[in-house]
Amino acid sequence: MDLTVAADRAALDKARDELGPGRIALVPTMGALHEGHRSLLRLAREHADHVVVSVFVNPLQFGPNEDFSRYPRTFDADLRVCEEEGVAVVFAPSAEDMYLPDRQVQVSAGGMGGVVEGAFRPGHFDGVLTVVLKLFNLVRPDVAVFGQKDAQQLALIRRMVADLDVPVSIVGAPTVREPDGLALSSRNRYLSEADRRTALALSRALRAGAARAGAARAEIAGPAGILDAARAVLEEAARFDPPLLLDYLILADPATFAPVADDHRGEAILAVAAKVGTTRLIDNMVLTL
Ligand code: PAF
Repeated sequence: MDLTVAADRAALDKARDELGPGRIALVPTMGALHEGHRSLLRLAREHADHVVVSVFVNPLQFGPNEDFSRYPRTFDADLRVCEEEGVAVVFAPSAEDMYLPDRQVQVSAGGMGGVVEGAFRPGHFDGVLTVVLKLFNLVRPDVAVFGQKDAQQLALIRRMVADLDVPVSIVGAPTVREPDGLALSSRNRYLSEADRRTALALSRALRAGAARAGAARAEIAGPAGILDAARAVLEEAARFDPPLLLDYLILADPATFAPVADDHRGEAILAVAAKVGTTRLIDNMVLTL
């Protein structure tokens, strides 16, 4: 079936009606699609008969000093990716179509939206959850797919769906990495060659933490030992040119994003965020303690 591009909600309704019977999977994106998005689209196809992709750079989730205006917009290339991956509908609304000029109500991400990533980006997760809920209401998918790379976003979307009884199943997709370990991100396009060398410290730090966690099963390292191993890599990268400027490194409960206790057992997320040059990057790894 040919790809339909719906530029507003009326066109989306029409395209959705024309899909015919079967399960619908939604993959919400902000465009600038890369190999990581392709993996989300492929996973979506495994879970549904029709895949709808939204391409919308959501102004609500960017802070005043963030990269909304320079965020990469590559719509024609995005459409080619969607065509190649068998997407049925691309929903690409304007901001005016998405948000009423006098809008008042939005989703609150609660306390969990104000910690870790949310502490550095006030209001970010409220903006994410608001647009995601609107997309769920407009597309009415059976299933929606999100990347594990944005681990706190994924956890909050699961929380919203549970707390607000949203009738959609959420599927998390593993992070896709470059062969050298760099997690794929639309923001990687901002990195110079020197930036990229420094940026590799993020995944290296996570691997160092994971290695310590692996060893900890035989000995006892615990959260402090895991964080020390990861921090040592980040501290070294703070002396690179350009330096890595750490925002946070945390070993968090995957459901709440609270720091894990010393005696925590089971899954924990080792999450990191840092600035390299003018680019802010995040990454994470799920560990079993
Ligand atoms: O992860 C993203 O690209 C965005 O936060 C999302 C989920 C598309 C909402 O704008």
